[in-house]
Amino acid sequence: MERTFVLVKPDGVQRGLIGEVIARLEKRGLKLTAAKFLAVSNDLAEKHYAVHKGKDFYPGLIRYITSAPVMAMVWEGTNAVAVVRQTMGATRPWEAAPGSIRHDFALEVGRNLTHASDSVENAQAEIALWFSPTELVEWQRCSDDWIF
Ligand code: TYD
Repeated sequence: MERTFVLVKPDGVQRGLIGEVIARLEKRGLKLTAAKFLAVSNDLAEKHYAVHKGKDFYPGLIRYITSAPVMAMVWEGTNAVAVVRQTMGATRPWEAAPGSIRHDFALEVGRNLTHASDSVENAQAEIALWFSPTELVEWQRCSDDWIF
């Protein structure tokens, strides 16, 4: 069973799309393992996006992610990393597959609503960066054995 890290970014929160994102992930069959609503500090933003430091869009990206609260979550399920990336859609909304969140709700790459880990290794690192181990909830859905 795989875990992945998901953010509803400031534009998603401002536009009232937290519930939409959660609903899509729940309906897909993924299980929520952790969630918190928080304002992102500069320090956390710079750690989260360290890989992009030096790129032309980096300063705007840090301003954007620290501009308003975000909803941070951990979701669990079979192939969760790939499944959640697919549900979010391509980074550039104009390239996102029809039916994906970025296709259905976004226009600009700099306002693409969500973040989702792009590999199992990055998921583990991002979960460790955003959550303490005690914030991860181990639980069973009574249907897990046979529905999904
Ligand atoms: P990236 O990690 O490549 O995409 P994703 O969020 O799909 O994993 O980029 C991180 C964020 O940086 C992306 O969601 C939006 C922003 N960004 C830009 O503003 N311009 C760009 O050209 C790229 C590639 C990303």
